[in-house]
Amino acid sequence: MKTIICKNYEEMSARAAEIVADVMKADPACVLGLATGSTPVGMYKKLIDMNKAGEIDFSKVTTVNLDEYYPIAPDNDQSYRYFMNENLFNHVNIDKTKTYVPDGMAADPDEACAAYEALVKKVGPADIQVLGIGQNGHIGFNEPADALEVATHVTGLTESTIKANARFFASESDVPTKALTMGIGTILSAKKIIILANGAAKAEAVKKMLAGKLDTSCPASMLNLHADVTVICDEAAVI
Ligand code: PGA
Repeated sequence: MKTIICKNYEEMSARAAEIVADVMKADPACVLGLATGSTPVGMYKKLIDMNKAGEIDFSKVTTVNLDEYYPIAPDNDQSYRYFMNENLFNHVNIDKTKTYVPDGMAADPDEACAAYEALVKKVGPADIQVLGIGQNGHIGFNEPADALEVATHVTGLTESTIKANARFFASESDVPTKALTMGIGTILSAKKIIILANGAAKAEAVKKMLAGKLDTSCPASMLNLHADVTVICDEAAVI
């Protein structure tokens, strides 16, 4: 894995945005695999600025997001669909009908996961997948476990993730306990992957990911199987 260590969050966000912009310039009809969470917000801001400056064009772009809480309505301000609209889609010239997020309202979540897996295969694979990393090493909602899932699936959130995400909800008990998420195989199907990490809270997870072992207690370590992964982090996230 290639590692880019940046001075701070600002620089990290700029480097990540440049890499995504290069993919968009090489193929204006590209497929972007996108992530939610606080980490990529700065990168999305830069992409919005570049779009407004006429440097990048989203009109032909398709996006596939990693995951969504379950159950959650798309207009709930904590849903990942809402997050993507607020942090990127509402501010760029993208055709929202070509932006995909797993269906947090699906009557049959297993069926919705199978349909999402098929959709990613049909529109994809993603030309680039953007990832954050959990403090526990998760990617998407692939939480540490004895065995990791290959394809898009319904999963329970670990206590650690519920606690980490409680800051966005009125209380910890409001955090949904399930999610629909791409599996490790879905993520690895992307042609190129960037994973962003900032702050000391991510340092242990980043270290485990970079240790060169496939360790299911750090799902991000599975990225070692991919030939084109760039880790973009700030100094605090590296120990
Ligand atoms: P964060 O989440 O960007 O809000 O830290 C990252 C993740 O859990 O994947």
